[in-house]
Order: sequence, then C-alpha cells, then structure tokens
Amino acid sequence: MKNLARPIIIGNWKMNLDYKSSLSLAKKISSGRAQKNIKNDVLLLPDFLPLAELSSKNKNKNIFYGAQDVSPFSFGPYTGEVSLENLEKLGCKYILVGHSERRQYLSEDKIISLKMENIIKNSKLVPILCVGENLSQRKSGQTVVVIKKQLQEAFSKIKGLSGQKIIIAYEPIWAIGTGKNISAEEAIIVHKKIKEIIMTMFKNNLPRELGVVYGGSVNLSNFQDFKKSEDISGLLIGGSSLKANDFLKIANNFFYV
Ligand code: PGA
Repeated sequence: MKNLARPIIIGNWKMNLDYKSSLSLAKKISSGRAQKNIKNDVLLLPDFLPLAELSSKNKNKNIFYGAQDVSPFSFGPYTGEVSLENLEKLGCKYILVGHSERRQYLSEDKIISLKMENIIKNSKLVPILCVGENLSQRKSGQTVVVIKKQLQEAFSKIKGLSGQKIIIAYEPIWAIGTGKNISAEEAIIVHKKIKEIIMTMFKNNLPRELGVVYGGSVNLSNFQDFKKSEDISGLLIGGSSLKANDFLKIANNFFYV
C-alpha cells in the first residue's frame, strides 16, 4: 500500500455559492493553476448544478472536479438522487462521502456504507470518506475509538480494496468552520492511526494508494504547518476555498518537502 503519489488540495464549496459565482470562482482558480509548476493535485467540489458544466467542459489538466455526495443507488426510481453513473460520465474523478454536515443535518450515517459500496464496486471514482470526532468525544479521549467505528461502518460492505485508491479525510468536527485548529503533530498521530486501522481491516486486500488528508479551519496562516509529514496527504478546505487568492496560495504551495 502506497501513500498518495502527490498531495491533494480539495476545495469543498458546500452550498455557499450561486451558479454564476461557482463558474467564476472556478475560472479564477483554473487560470491561477495553469501558470504554476505543479507538484500536487487540486480538486474542486462545487454543488451538483455547476459541477455538471465545470466537470464536463474541464480542459485544465491541473484541476479535477468531484461531487460533494452521491446516491447509494444505481439508476432507478429514486426521486431527488444523483447517480454515480452520471457523475462518472460528466468526468468527475472523486466523490466526498459522509461529510460531518451530512451526518449531522441529513442523518447520513446509516447510508454511508451503501455509498462506499456503490463507488468502490461500480466505478473507478475515488471516494473521499470523512471521519472525525466531536468536542465531547475528543475531551473524553475517544477520538480513535470514534474514528475506528466510523471506518468499520463505512467499509462494512467491502471485502477487499486491492487496486483501489482511497482517501480518508480526517476532520475533527469541532474544528470545521470554527477557526479552531488541531496541531499538525496531533493530526499526524490520528492519520497514522487511520492507516493502521485500514491495514488491519484489509490485511490481504490493501488499497493500491491510501491518502489521509486533514480538514478543519485550514487557512493561509496555518496551512504550512500541515506540510511537515507525508502522513498528511493533503488538505480539505471549506471557507478558505471560497477565496480564489487564498485557495491558490495554499494549493500552489502545499507539497511534500
Ligand atoms: P472549513 O471546512 O475549512 O471551513 O473548516 C472544512 C470542511 O468542512 O470540509
């Protein structure tokens, strides 16, 4: 099992932008990327509507597009859902699964394993599975226990991962959108634990590539801290991904040193 070949910087726009603003932010980021000497991958996660246009027309090899969510089902009578098949046809390369906001506001926990199964068994897309503890779990020293349970549940329908590229996003819930930060040293410990848990779960069927990225109030003033170790394979950025200049400065300067 290898670490990700290149770090990945992910911009999670959530439901923050209207259609036109999404296209214009993508344009700014895309032109800022094109001029640089590229040592990492950049992935943008707009909402579904601009995603269709941005992903299908993307000509910039230095930017990937992905979805913030996917249906657990294949094509069929599932009102309101967006299928994996359509996302793949539109050129999406990655899908975020189990973001804490979806777990919290949309009671997503129970269907995460179905989404992971759908992506891994039926496509070549890379799932980015979000895990993380809340503040009281952290204070009571339960971080690793909580994350282990989230990983076991998410992969409960998967027998092996050989040949797969998998990304886990470690996002402490108390650090998302709050300006509060974990130290890089602490993140590295959790990232190593996540890899150990996956290695134990899939002993003989390990993924081809496994990356663990960090997310939670990453911004221009703290992103450099997270470059210290290849155990941090990249960043998942919410608020600071909405400002083209900030996001580009982070994206163009985050690589393994
Ligand atoms: P934040 O969001 O960077 O605004 O904390 C991160 C996320 O929710 O993925």
